[in-house]
Amino acid sequence: MAASNDQRLERRARDVERDVPDVVVAARASNEGSIARVGACGESNRIQPKSDIVTSRRVASRAMSREWRRGRLSFKEKFIDPCVVDGVLVRQYASAEAFAKSTATSTAGRRDDDDDDDDDRVPGTGFTVWDASALLGKYVGREDVWERLTAGKRRDGTRAPTTTLELGAGTGLATLLVASSEIASREEGGLVCVMTDLPEVVALARANARENKEENGGRVPRRVLLATRGVRWGREEDVEALPEAIRWPDVVLGADLMYTSDEGVIRALAKTTGMLVRDSGRVAVFAACREHRPESIELFVSILETEGFTVRRVPASTVHPDYPASDDEFEILECWRR
Ligand SMILES: C[S@@+](CC[C@H](N)C(=O)[O-])C[C@H]1O[C@@H](n2cnc3c(N)ncnc32)[C@H](O)[C@@H]1O
Repeated sequence: MAASNDQRLERRARDVERDVPDVVVAARASNEGSIARVGACGESNRIQPKSDIVTSRRVASRAMSREWRRGRLSFKEKFIDPCVVDGVLVRQYASAEAFAKSTATSTAGRRDDDDDDDDDRVPGTGFTVWDASALLGKYVGREDVWERLTAGKRRDGTRAPTTTLELGAGTGLATLLVASSEIASREEGGLVCVMTDLPEVVALARANARENKEENGGRVPRRVLLATRGVRWGREEDVEALPEAIRWPDVVLGADLMYTSDEGVIRALAKTTGMLVRDSGRVAVFAACREHRPESIELFVSILETEGFTVRRVPASTVHPDYPASDDEFEILECWRR
């Protein structure tokens, strides 16, 4: 019985894949492709065989379980070694250039000179894991939280898969934690998880997504569909160009995105959030780091409140027992469309 339900979900996932062929991370039968293209982490760029990956998974796991906060990690642990949280392995790099060097075909780090109103260089922040992403993934993956966040979808009674869309996903860790959690394999109608970032950064999320699919030895079940897409905040055309199947996600996610003092960037993030969270009862969930720019968090909250959202603030100390944090360090913002 369970097998046939899984087959039905896989079929439904393939339907979505047909609708959004350019964005979906296709299942791969072997580790050819993703791993070969991402290349090895560490000193050499040779192709890393699966057995090496398993070893680095174990080593990094031990590091994470000692202390979940990453502030004390060495440069190597933050920017060269993969990061592993709950069996999800994501590769990290020091910069767009370092990522580009590790891939044969990537365009990461290059600028398109014709794109003259893109006034920001590719920020390097997306190539390493930030603590907020682990916190967000663990929070949203909690059964009680997931039930609440997706209650609107269930009330609608649609048979479409549940969709999440992460803004500024970086390595993709938050989404991959949700996609590999218990709630993902139980979601009856299937689950589609989309990771977005600047086009130059999203290639890393895509490679990490592939590597974490069950088909490639990872923890994200076959029935969960992963997709990636370049979405620049504040760009209406990026949201409007999203395929219908993922245009209005049930849950929008974001970790450590209010780190800048640039008011324009915060306003752009709020605008994109407003475009994605369409209906009353839909929600965007952000894990915000209060150690960076608390004033930017307040600005973001006040913009959303004037734009028709109710913001529920969840103290970090209540987020997850395995990820203890103080309320001065982080908070979760559940931004509900009124
Ligand atoms: C501090 S990092 C957080 C990355 C990831 N969420 C995490 O917590 O590990 C901020 C992310 O926002 C992305 N970002 C910055 N400005 C952006 C913009 N204008 N449009 C889209 N993404 C942007 C960066 O590329 C980066 O991935």
